[in-house]
Amino acid sequence: MSIYFCAEKKIFHLQTANTSYVFCVAEHDALEHLYYGKKIPMDNIKYIGNRQWYAHHAHESRESRDFSASSLSLEISPFNSGDIRTPSVAYNVGGDIHCNRLRYRSHKIYQGRQPIEGLPYSRETEQTETLEVVLSDDENNVLFTLYYVVFADVDVIARYQTMKNTGAGSLSIQRFSSMCLDFYGMDFDAITLEGIYLYERGHVSRFPIKRGVFKCNSLTGTSSHNRNPFLALCAHNADEDIGEAYGFNILYSGNFMQEVSVDYLGDTRVVAGIDDTGFSWTLGAGESLVSPEVVMTYSDQGLGGMSRNFHDHIRQSIIERKFAYSHRPIVINSWEASYFSVSEEKVLALAESAKDCGVDTVVLDDGWFRPNDSKGLGDWRTEKDRFPSGIQGLADKVHALGMRFGIWLEPEMVNADSDLYRTHPDWILSTSKLPLISRKQYVLDLTRNEVVEAVANRIIEELQGAKIDYIKWDFNRYMTEAGSFVSPQGEVYHRQMLGAYKLLSILKEHFANVLFETCAGGGGRFDLGMLFYSPQIWTSDNTDPYARIYIQNGCSYAYPLSAISCHFTEGDCTSGRESTYEFRYRVASFGSYGYELDLSKYTAEEKAIFKGYSEEYLQDECLNLEGDLYRLISPEETDYYAYIKVSKDKKKAQFTFLELYASGLVESMALRLKGLDPEKAYKNENTGEILHGATLMNVGIRIGDLYRKKRSDGYTIRFTAIDE
Ligand code: DGJ
Repeated sequence: MSIYFCAEKKIFHLQTANTSYVFCVAEHDALEHLYYGKKIPMDNIKYIGNRQWYAHHAHESRESRDFSASSLSLEISPFNSGDIRTPSVAYNVGGDIHCNRLRYRSHKIYQGRQPIEGLPYSRETEQTETLEVVLSDDENNVLFTLYYVVFADVDVIARYQTMKNTGAGSLSIQRFSSMCLDFYGMDFDAITLEGIYLYERGHVSRFPIKRGVFKCNSLTGTSSHNRNPFLALCAHNADEDIGEAYGFNILYSGNFMQEVSVDYLGDTRVVAGIDDTGFSWTLGAGESLVSPEVVMTYSDQGLGGMSRNFHDHIRQSIIERKFAYSHRPIVINSWEASYFSVSEEKVLALAESAKDCGVDTVVLDDGWFRPNDSKGLGDWRTEKDRFPSGIQGLADKVHALGMRFGIWLEPEMVNADSDLYRTHPDWILSTSKLPLISRKQYVLDLTRNEVVEAVANRIIEELQGAKIDYIKWDFNRYMTEAGSFVSPQGEVYHRQMLGAYKLLSILKEHFANVLFETCAGGGGRFDLGMLFYSPQIWTSDNTDPYARIYIQNGCSYAYPLSAISCHFTEGDCTSGRESTYEFRYRVASFGSYGYELDLSKYTAEEKAIFKGYSEEYLQDECLNLEGDLYRLISPEETDYYAYIKVSKDKKKAQFTFLELYASGLVESMALRLKGLDPEKAYKNENTGEILHGATLMNVGIRIGDLYRKKRSDGYTIRFTAIDE
């Protein structure tokens, strides 16, 4: 059992393996937050006192000033409720300003969880338990249900909420976040993942929070290249191994916000969910709205501990089980090999040469239905002159070579030059006479069910009968003027996400057992919402290995290695910079590995090298799928990057060291490993040397020794525990 209710004190205690989350029904039936952090004993919760403050601001009682919503830590905080800090929800009835005070009404605790209809959510495990707390605003006939879904073994608690209009009139919502969490004090650093197209999540931005408000959000209709729905709050002294770290992430792929505010009391509030810029939602009588889910974790083992909690939770509950721990295809993708000039002949030649490189899946990227990016998107008609056997025939031929077949789609978009757009100019997201165009395409209006269905039917029809094993689902522009010809303006961004998730669900149901990899013009939609549908995401169009180190390192704070799709490419297509094969392979094998270059140009010797890489990757793939990651040196602080992946039973480990710039330090550098069992003896599979985990973790690996044996810019050492 992980959720307890103390009826005497009306305290809820949510307990995971290492954490406690405590709140209570306080005076005036307010829901007061009491504690979130390291686990505390169950019988001590009565001692976590309520926070009785002198009311600085408006108070409930006419007689005393000792109870004010503005002085409490709260689980939910509506605007116009007496709490004058950053609200987590805002609504009004019939446009009037009301007082929106919420009172506890009831709760229930049960095993498992309810799925969230139409939105991604963390899938239940045998240990999952849920607490639902119902609050009402009786003056306005509104009911809120706050959901706390506890995943005890991985130290994760998921939160979301529903709002129901129980009145006769309509109600307008202006802010509808998924959760509100108050902390005493402001002694935190915040960490966000910042970037841009070709450098998504490449900046791990860490800064001390101060009095005031900051918001990490996206207004692009996607989770975006520029920001990410992940947020960490950690102690100023927290590093990879020690110190308290809280992590938050939103299962949402559209406009999100993580808002952190420090108020007049010097306390910190986190409000996370849908961004409210331009948001307004009308709830008719009897209608409800459900928020996206937020997952949060706490670790006293620094940022490394926080990341590992999230990795475990994502693999266990967000990625579909049938894919989460299974081999991921080693693909050869046609994009950087041929760009738009693909043909049946070229794909088959690529497949033939890829066979010699240990590749198992050939992916036909963009270009199979159009010669360039200017036309045909949305019509999905295979270009028969370049693909005479059609997609079905090509897929059969690829299978006959003993390979699997994947195809690229961008279902949410339409080219301006397409029959679809000519027939339905009102099916796009813009009501302007001159809609803004990007990559010669518009975003389809998926707030309209008929559009979702038409797109799904067309794609299903075109690919009828083709043996497809893998779908790359792209999204190549932002939503810049999200106006719909039918849906209310303030609802468009969120309805669009609901439509996109529906389209994904329809096509996933049709292409059952097909592995989907999502993508958004590189890594513009790398989030937990997408991971619910696709076990891996294309990380970035920047495949220059030097830049990729930063991008992949940023991703690893929030996302497991198997979710991070990485390809061995010619590497210089984004930067013009050359790099060794060894370095490119070591960088790309960080995540789910594949190739993206014209393999038919390479010699037999080179292909043998690539085959060796594929085999080496497969040897350790289980560490990406199930193991623990320990980041050893940060590329932001040094000229190197190093990490170790360790199996859960600590019997197998893979250490990688990468030299970004030759600074001369490596000669004398000793690097302490992490995550091993100090008692176990490990065989260094490269040298045969046997050392204990305690030695490897305290004395470390002498990098200079590696250099003296073989000069390289990247090393991997595999360790296997031996029975003594
Ligand atoms: C953007 C993706 O990131 C690329 O990998 C490729 O699929 C192109 N789109 C195709 O248009």
